[in-house]
Amino acid sequence: MKPRIIIDCDPGHDDAIAIMMAARLTEVLGITTVSGNAPLDLTTDNALLLADLIGLEAEVHAGAEKPLLLPARHAAEAHGKTGLDGPVRPDVTRSATSFDAVRFIIETIRKNDDVWLVPIGPLTNIALAVQQAPDIVKRVAGVSIMGGSAGAGNVTPTAEFNVWADPHAAAIVFNAGFETLLMAGLNLTHQFGIDEATIASLREINNSVTLFAADLFEFYLASYQKRTRGQRVPLHDPCAVLAVTHPEIFTFESRTVHVETEGKHTTGMTVVDERGWGDQPLNCKVEYAIDRDRGMDIFLETMCSYTAK
Ligand code: BDR
Ligand code: CA
Repeated sequence: MKPRIIIDCDPGHDDAIAIMMAARLTEVLGITTVSGNAPLDLTTDNALLLADLIGLEAEVHAGAEKPLLLPARHAAEAHGKTGLDGPVRPDVTRSATSFDAVRFIIETIRKNDDVWLVPIGPLTNIALAVQQAPDIVKRVAGVSIMGGSAGAGNVTPTAEFNVWADPHAAAIVFNAGFETLLMAGLNLTHQFGIDEATIASLREINNSVTLFAADLFEFYLASYQKRTRGQRVPLHDPCAVLAVTHPEIFTFESRTVHVETEGKHTTGMTVVDERGWGDQPLNCKVEYAIDRDRGMDIFLETMCSYTAK
């Protein structure tokens, strides 16, 4: 049976690929959106546009318009002003089912006992759900996050965007007591990058979804390479989906992870205790390695499964 997931996202180029993969590899119970890479109205529109493009009928619920305490901050330098710059933008024909993603998350978890949460944007919606309904912590099958890092950051030397954008929400989620909390941080996602050769493979597959993805990547790769002196652009968010569907291709270590909410140079940092003798609860399974070849095969096989143009 496919895992049943709620994907909480801020599309976002790599969120788009995560949604395309999740639609094939999991049962998507719903998509919830959050302010992050772009303002909420755009991330919601983008989620609807993507669901339309790939024929995914799951409901889309809009969530938090801003972080818990901080003002909203976005990532136009990586994803453009729309959050999905690059391809010609199709018209959006659907509307959000509700503007209460938090309620949708709570109700779906209360109705089902096997739901995975897959948050791939700032953790605002998940933190609000935990605050409003602490019982969901013990009910979920697990939480698979893209966020943080057991190493360098990206927005700052120490902080990764999703955690930095709402560190107070991230702190609530990491401290909530989830039995299974998986973290695909930058130390992991940087092992899962794509380059021009991947874009060429997507064009060769030549269906409407892979051509859209290739146009997305032309923009995403170029904007990333401008900032990082030519590195492969990481497929961050798909790692959080793969950690649920294909855990065997990852190496996990149980760790204590705290989120820094106040540091002068470290706000938004995930402090991963790697000493091995700490006395704090091990609250997180940190991902340290991915079998890149196997992951890329799964990615391309999944993209092939969309029908020809
Ligand atoms: C994360 O930040 C966003 O820009 C990406 O979509 C990903 O979720 C990487 O730091
Ligand atoms: Ca994202």
